Amino acid sequence: MSGKKRLIDENGLRVDGRRWNELRPLKIEVGILSNVDGSARIIQGKTHILVGVYGPRESFAKHVSLPDRSVVRCRYRMAPFSVEERKSPAPSRREIELSKVIREALEPAILVEEFPRTIIDIFIEVLEADGGTRCASITAASVALADAGIPMKDLVAACAVGKADGKLIVDLSDMEDKYGEADVPVAIMPNKNIITLLQMDGTLTSDEFNALLQLAMKGCKRIHEVQRKALKDGFGEIKNLVLEE
Ligand code: CDP
Repeated sequence: MSGKKRLIDENGLRVDGRRWNELRPLKIEVGILSNVDGSARIIQGKTHILVGVYGPRESFAKHVSLPDRSVVRCRYRMAPFSVEERKSPAPSRREIELSKVIREALEPAILVEEFPRTIIDIFIEVLEADGGTRCASITAASVALADAGIPMKDLVAACAVGKADGKLIVDLSDMEDKYGEADVPVAIMPNKNIITLLQMDGTLTSDEFNALLQLAMKGCKRIHEVQRKALKDGFGEIKNLVLEE
């Protein structure tokens, strides 16, 4: 057995040269697709995702709709070429689970009760995956929902945090996700300070968990600035990637 992969070097730099509290370069574009009501593209490091939103539209399948609210549906899909080892085009258990997780992270922000008997459809296409695709999908989908003109209480911004080589880190890449000690994806409604997604994979002490939660909140708030800029100007990019300590 070879030793464990080294994720942080002697200078405290991660495999892609980032510091522990540094986000990956982030770009969000809005309204890039013409055949949907709302759309967004997110490029976060090498992770690249497109989101298209339809709705609220009247539901003709009566068994799907509800009399007092809109029904939100979400489909997260990874292109076969999105990962190193070609992914089967058939929907995987992971894609089905992530579709649910992402929907549940977005739903609390949508004013669903304003549109009874309607459907809101969110289609997420992961073109390239390098870790953090559920978070990037949530960030982009909430922008696409706003672009569709769907009334919302707040945007939803998401960011993963975790632990690698004993150090707490923000915005994990695929390698850090796979070989690190913990991965904690978090989504928040930044103006309301409400957490809509909190998952955890790995082992942490309660102090580490609390510190990571603070780090995730900072990451989400920085990502929220980019979301707002993108909605205002059609395009948003992050300038200062290092979060304050
Ligand atoms: O993407 P996210 O971190 O939200 O979800 P994950 O299930 O923890 O997956 C982490 C990463 O594993 C993905 O972002 C991909 O880079 C990679 N992955 C892969 O290489 N092949 C797959 N079939 C699924 C995921």
